[in-house]
Amino acid sequence: MCGIAGFIGKEMAVPYLIDCLERLEYRGYDSSGIALCKKGSIEVTKRKGKLAELKKAINVKEKKNSCCGIGHTRWATHGSPTEKNAHPHMSEKGLFAIVHNGIIENYAELKNELISEGVTFSSQTDSEVIAQLFEKNYKDDFLISARKTLSRLEGAYAIAVICRDFPDRIFCARKGSPLVLCFGEKGGFISSDVTSLAGQSNEIYRLDDGECALVSSEGAEFFFSDMVPKEKLPEKLNISAEDAQKQGYEHFMLKEIFEQNQTAARTVHGHIRGDDIFFEGLDSLFDIASDIRRIAFIGCGSAYHVCLSAKYVTERLTGIYCSAEIASEWRYSDSPVDKSTLCVFISQSGETADTLAALVKAKASGALTLGIVNVPSSSLSVKSDFVIQTAAGAEIAVATTKAYTAQLITVYLIALRLAKEKDCVDKEDYVRYTEFIRRIPDGISEILACVPGQAQKIAEEICNVSQIYFIGRNTDYPAALEGALKLKEVSYIPCEAYPSGELKHGTISLIEKGTYVVALMGSSDVLAKTAGNVKEVKSRGARVIFVGNADRIRTDNYGNEDKILSLPDSENVFSALYESIALQLLAYYVAKMRGCDIDKPRNLAKSVTVE
Ligand code: AGP
Ligand code: GLU
Repeated sequence: MCGIAGFIGKEMAVPYLIDCLERLEYRGYDSSGIALCKKGSIEVTKRKGKLAELKKAINVKEKKNSCCGIGHTRWATHGSPTEKNAHPHMSEKGLFAIVHNGIIENYAELKNELISEGVTFSSQTDSEVIAQLFEKNYKDDFLISARKTLSRLEGAYAIAVICRDFPDRIFCARKGSPLVLCFGEKGGFISSDVTSLAGQSNEIYRLDDGECALVSSEGAEFFFSDMVPKEKLPEKLNISAEDAQKQGYEHFMLKEIFEQNQTAARTVHGHIRGDDIFFEGLDSLFDIASDIRRIAFIGCGSAYHVCLSAKYVTERLTGIYCSAEIASEWRYSDSPVDKSTLCVFISQSGETADTLAALVKAKASGALTLGIVNVPSSSLSVKSDFVIQTAAGAEIAVATTKAYTAQLITVYLIALRLAKEKDCVDKEDYVRYTEFIRRIPDGISEILACVPGQAQKIAEEICNVSQIYFIGRNTDYPAALEGALKLKEVSYIPCEAYPSGELKHGTISLIEKGTYVVALMGSSDVLAKTAGNVKEVKSRGARVIFVGNADRIRTDNYGNEDKILSLPDSENVFSALYESIALQLLAYYVAKMRGCDIDKPRNLAKSVTVE
């Protein structure tokens, strides 16, 4: 979702702005631009399409004497992705230029008010009202103009603003959309994504909601949105520059798939000691485990698929009634929630607008809230009653892989800890389950050694098909959903996932000779039943790709033209983990063969900070 860059220093701003925007590219965008401020003037350059278009339009030599600038990669919400609607937006008289992430929900009212006062707008966007308000409220004082402007805005924003009269300052503010600053030897840097600051400094300042800053090349003055000054302490930036690089892999997605044995090890060893499972700061939550009557797991997209796995696993191990909820739906539902409900919010970025909105609803209903997040100090982690920081490290590819599996292992561990607290898992099972979880890194290493070759061969066969169906039952079903999402989001092949028992209730009408069906059979509990469903589709001409333990699958059901992604044995209740990693590899190789933009799939964004 869009990106903000800002630089103010002792050197020309353009290279640093472009470098930051390039590091933000993976987040997805449809246009981009920069604005440069030098004494008495602001100059804006913006282009539709890829960042390369913007770079072609900037004559760096002409910009050498501007050391203050802002940049933006846009993911359009209001106004089509054109050059005119691209950011930065300039105020009518050229006094201000702004870049904005988020949505100004009352922009229409503000725009009408400004137009009635004679202001001429040049774009269809909501964001332009910010630039025009800054100019309307400006009486030679940058901060007073800022205070008056922010007091009128409703909705979510991260903004960076330059003023023609203050060429050595950048104003920035945050409400509902992330913004971070850092100061290095070159000057001051502003960004919407902490990973893009890797290498500039080992300390960052993360604006909280309702905070703003006036940034110079040496440092920043921090304020509340009413411009009352406030102290702000830096936090360590533990993302090294190489974290944000590909380390020799062709794509971030492949690097992150292959990191999963290490990230799984960090997750497992970070929470298991002997037979004990521990989560720092959560003892008081587990102490009241017996008071929890219901657990709602809430998330979006891949995070929702983790929620669904968490439901199956937690119900199986603890007997607590659980539900898996799509955040954008749940926030409007009448689902009964009270203080005996634990709402678990799962989010890689911790900034997903739908998930944050669901969190607000949960807290207002008196529920206990637990956030499982991969980005430190993100909104979700700051606003939840309890938080578990997953140890996947910076995930750059838009399609989540290592963060997803880190979340999955985390919910397995939570379920086991709850089961132990409630004394509802027998000792033998508990030991077997924890032993399996300890061995997960080795199981993943085995998959990463054996499955890529199988996946590449299958990818050659299916990379040009028109549709693919995924089926899975019980704990295999969430992995079928995730496998379908992963494949379609990076390869653009239409994929659908169904509970394997459900396909025959209608969709089987689409199965014809040569249709590909991916059958997830990692859980032996339900393998025979899914094998029956496989027979149903094969009898209608389908070609099947099995995912599971080869020895178990190679029965009468497995024909010469069928394929298999063979997995190490898994505990049935945890079957989704290994299946998901095998299907990540399949998705990657299919997308590679189709020449897709694997790390930045079209229309997608790494963090969907709009509703
Ligand atoms: C990631 O592969 C998906 N493209 C996307 O569905 C993502 O899982 C979803 O947007 C939720 O993001 P979050 O985990 O940052 O909340
Ligand atoms: N709502 C603004 C627009 O449509 C900003 C979108 C974004 O976050 O990139 O221009």
